[in-house]
Amino acid sequence: MDIALSLDPKSPLALYRQIYDGLREGILTGRFEAGSRLPATRSLAVSLGVSRITVTECYDRLISEGYLETRQGSGTFVCARLPETSMYPISKDGNEVTPQLQDERVYRLSRYGSTVNLPLLSPVAPSMIRFDLYGTDVATFPKRLWTRLFARRMQEESGNLLRYTQHYSGQPELRIAIAQYLKQSRAVVCDPNQIVIVSGSQQAISLAARILLDESDYVAMENPGYRLAWRVFSSQGAKILPIPVDEDGIQIAQLRKQADKAPKLVYLTPSHQYPLGVALSVARRIELLEWARETNTPILEDDYDSEFRYSERPLASIQGMVPDGPVLYTGTFSKLLFPALRLGYLVVPSALQNAFTTAKLLCDLQSSALDQQVLADFLLDGHLEPYVRKMRIVYGGRRVLLIDCLRKHFGDKVTIRGDDAGLHFVADFKSSLSEDDAFERALQKGVRLERVFWTGGAAEKRPGHIQFVFTFAGLKEEELILAAQRLADAFC
Ligand SMILES: Cc1ncc(COP(=O)(O)O)c(C=O)c1O
Repeated sequence: MDIALSLDPKSPLALYRQIYDGLREGILTGRFEAGSRLPATRSLAVSLGVSRITVTECYDRLISEGYLETRQGSGTFVCARLPETSMYPISKDGNEVTPQLQDERVYRLSRYGSTVNLPLLSPVAPSMIRFDLYGTDVATFPKRLWTRLFARRMQEESGNLLRYTQHYSGQPELRIAIAQYLKQSRAVVCDPNQIVIVSGSQQAISLAARILLDESDYVAMENPGYRLAWRVFSSQGAKILPIPVDEDGIQIAQLRKQADKAPKLVYLTPSHQYPLGVALSVARRIELLEWARETNTPILEDDYDSEFRYSERPLASIQGMVPDGPVLYTGTFSKLLFPALRLGYLVVPSALQNAFTTAKLLCDLQSSALDQQVLADFLLDGHLEPYVRKMRIVYGGRRVLLIDCLRKHFGDKVTIRGDDAGLHFVADFKSSLSEDDAFERALQKGVRLERVFWTGGAAEKRPGHIQFVFTFAGLKEEELILAAQRLADAFC
């Protein structure tokens, strides 16, 4: 099949995007018929005057989205049944019934429904190197040990771990193990009863928003900050108070200046600010706690990755500075072990125990008792500490490798920030490109970047500079080397 696509070199849309859109539209409108064969990537690239990798990326993406399929030895074909139609039920006469998906009279979304009704990221080709995923190195995880612990619990005669439990806030053994761990490693002071097991800290943020915020309440958060916390708060109807961050972390003086807004919650990442990577200084921590006491404002401390610190020891938690203070503390096993485990914890002041336990129950009844018990065994048998020690070396090595590769290609045009802890850093490039152009160009070359998210809306721009977040832990060494090379090609 000959494919004529008109590409506009002056369009703000990258070539990759134009080709992808053209192919998808052609498939949906029937111009490229179901079952028909598309040209080989090499010949389409030549006829369009683009690189072969650009066409391969488009094909890969259309394959992963279900528009195209490959047949061994014969090429790439338009699928007979497209993803759009396969979502619809079949009527008695065998025809597809198309629901009125857009019909607002049928689907009257709640205010929350409207705020979450935004398109998600479209799937990306498997060959794409992604810095927008907070992965961990699953290859190094001790799977055999985990399988053994899991099998032992699975075979328990009582079968209790396979039933609903009444431990809505989490398995007692796990809460005891976490309280011990947090005391030693993060100086968190709590009774196991103050701990609610959640399915990752994302759920902790969500529950805190539901319990502590009403529509139009203000919530203060770091600017720049964590996008998905911003989305949770915004979809709850809360108003965001963006507070700037400098080398010492969130600026408490700026928070004080907003006294008239009387925020109902402050959400922050003090040990390793997301995304800039700075730690909140001791002086600021004290200032924050004084302000919180004066104004009776609770703090949600998100301590998502501070175990991985490469130079000095992490600062102790804010929660531990005032164990009876208004601090909710959350952490996760997503970075420590692996994200698919979906287990994290929230330490709440005693006065909030009941509300959080009930909210967790109403949200998803409970996190898997079986997984919780296996995790408790892993912690109580002493496997966590050596594993974290080992991973600090693995991740530390990847961090150094990626920084070296970026410096090799970009020289003094790149500056790295926030790299002495955690699983990501921010790289600032001197470049005449806009961040959008750089993002699209990188995508074309097979690298998906992560942008810095500005919770106040407007990006703080430095003319001639662009910056991106690099989460490196889940990428293999060869991918990091290749990514830096591809970025050098993309940005030049
Ligand atoms: C700052 C921050 N908080 C919370 C989370 C949520 O992690 P999880 O729900 O997997 O524990 C993430 C994920 O990357 C994060 O970066």
